[in-house]
Amino acid sequence: MKTTLSIIKADVGSIGGHVAPSKKLLGTIREHVEDAMTSLLSDYYITSTGDDIAILMAHDKGPGHVDVHRMAWEAFKDGALTAKAQGLYGAGQDLLVDAFSGNVKGMGPAVAELEFDERPNEPFLMFMADKTEPGAYNLPLYMAFADPMNTAGLLLSPELTKGFRFRIMDVGYTEGDRVIDLELPEDLYNLAALLRDNDRYVVEAIFARHDGEQAVAASTTRLHNIAGRYTGKDDPVLLVRTQKNFPASGEVLAPYSVAPFVNGYMRGSHVGPFMPVVSGTGCSYFDGPPIVSCLGFCVHNGRFTEPVDMFAHPFWDTVRDRAATKAMEIRRQGFSGAAMLPFSELEYGGITNLLEKLDRRFKVRAEKGANELVGV
Ligand code: F6R
Ligand code: MG
Ligand code: MG
Repeated sequence: MKTTLSIIKADVGSIGGHVAPSKKLLGTIREHVEDAMTSLLSDYYITSTGDDIAILMAHDKGPGHVDVHRMAWEAFKDGALTAKAQGLYGAGQDLLVDAFSGNVKGMGPAVAELEFDERPNEPFLMFMADKTEPGAYNLPLYMAFADPMNTAGLLLSPELTKGFRFRIMDVGYTEGDRVIDLELPEDLYNLAALLRDNDRYVVEAIFARHDGEQAVAASTTRLHNIAGRYTGKDDPVLLVRTQKNFPASGEVLAPYSVAPFVNGYMRGSHVGPFMPVVSGTGCSYFDGPPIVSCLGFCVHNGRFTEPVDMFAHPFWDTVRDRAATKAMEIRRQGFSGAAMLPFSELEYGGITNLLEKLDRRFKVRAEKGANELVGV
């Protein structure tokens, strides 16, 4: 029987601003999922990063299963009630529709799901990010699955040298799911050309060409495509199977040492470094910086081991220090140039009013070089 891993994640309220969920809120969600455990799930794990809560589930129902999705939706609904009762900020923020309609995709929460025949030992990594967007994983996934400068296995392992197939989604297209498959290494330049654009093209899945097995599933939700207005950043989750015919866990983690600049940060409208943090870390400086956590598990007969917090290792302290320096450095230039996102990606509409008013005050000169303004 195949095992399905499903992560469903949402922000349904937090303490002190968009910072971190309360213990009571986490407890409500845990209770709800615990009740579903015997009938629906073989195992689950609940964790938070920033103001987001993720429910990781193992079951045999396959991806997109209505009962699993409904259970998670109701758990977050319950959580939102607790958040409201406690007066948490942004209670119910990511639950964008009133009634559940078969699948939480397109309803606000982020989803990543993988189905496979368990190997005799099945290690995988679960990533969660806050104050950023799904494209934040583009560079780390490119480096881990396509770049032999990062992943020695692409040269050394007979399975990995066959390469990987990347499935990329065009998240700018709102009529449906617009996707393209690229075969690595042949399509290396094509892949780089797309992944350059983190807010438009996003890695949705990666498959090993050696045996066709799926290694990666990522969430690709664009909340403002759903709601038609800003409701929060898309704060993505990611599942990566590792080892043997996939990159090693360490090869998947290594790119996070770059702490690359990503979109998000304050008001989802700035650029900041992607800081690797311990699971459960909240947000702080300038509502950020954008953060990413990673838990490593093994799953066996649908049951999880306890997790290892991959970014708790002392190595990452140096990376965190460097990311903090980068975070402060880019903030020194405030709204200017590369520090704030282009107009199309600004998550708050206030500037539109400003610019509309200013637009009426612009004048076009009568002729090039003339000193007088038209109408003056
Ligand atoms: C970014 C984020 C925060 C908020 C900011 C203002 O994704 O969640 O940076 O945008 O704290 O929040 P509001 O508009 O709720 O006061
Ligand atoms: Mg929030
Ligand atoms: Mg968030």
